[in-house]
Amino acid sequence: MSSDTASPSGPTELRRLAEDLAQQAGALALAGRRSLGVGQPVAHDTKSTPTDPVTEFDRAAEALIVESLRRRRPDDSIVGEEGASHVGTSGLEWHVDPIDGTANFVYDLPAWCTSVGVIDADGGIAGAVYAPVTDELFSAARGHGATLNGQPITCSRASGLSAALLATGFNYAPATRSVQGERLAVLLPQVRDVRRFGSAALDLCMVACGRLDAYYEEFLNSWDLVAGVLIAAEAGASTSDFSTGPAGPAATVAAAPGVHAELLAAIAAVPR
Ligand code: IPD
Ligand code: CA
Ligand code: CA
Repeated sequence: MSSDTASPSGPTELRRLAEDLAQQAGALALAGRRSLGVGQPVAHDTKSTPTDPVTEFDRAAEALIVESLRRRRPDDSIVGEEGASHVGTSGLEWHVDPIDGTANFVYDLPAWCTSVGVIDADGGIAGAVYAPVTDELFSAARGHGATLNGQPITCSRASGLSAALLATGFNYAPATRSVQGERLAVLLPQVRDVRRFGSAALDLCMVACGRLDAYYEEFLNSWDLVAGVLIAAEAGASTSDFSTGPAGPAATVAAAPGVHAELLAAIAAVPR
């Protein structure tokens, strides 16, 4: 038996827990969404800006995850988008986005998910991203690869930016979006095409399984990216910030290894 299957804090054990939590919370949110009827909007409040929505289902899904984590792993720290904040002693910290893609959820578009990731002093150790509408469960454990519904996944073998299918996302703050839009306008003619699905965690998983060749975004939060970056990296994608550092909230890039360097160079060449 390997050490991590014997240890309750090993990557494999943590991955199973992340999968379980993401699936349970995603199922709860999906039941709420389906109770409203196709295309019927979900009542919502707003957060950082008038275009940043939060629903009762975001809050309920986070509560489910946090209650379960506190019961099963009382010594771990927790950071959740809807306010969860617990400081533990184990050295493990969970980052929870109960619904990533809330605007899609509100509009009844399918690209939303529940993202549950856990880090230790060395970075991401395990994570799961569950997309309830398609019933797709992406997960990874550090050093153990990435899977989609239990099947191993690998990123694309694309080479070069010009044939790459690229995704990105936008911050909720209008001034930041203006800058992001200007950068995208420069990149758009250099790639095969661009997608904006509206869920950073799913964007990262799309790179992981080869449905996208590359993805970049700035000004995310840890809960958007901890699980997805690990899944992308374990699937063979190159992950980073916009330079030589690790992917993080300030800047996140995940790309096929044959596309990554050219994408970074193209981003760096955008006039500021
Ligand atoms: C957002 C989504 C979106 C990304 C934003 C995120 P939320 O998360 O991931 O794709 O572009 O930066 O804030 O608000 O739907 O959880
Ligand atoms: Ca999010
Ligand atoms: Ca969210």
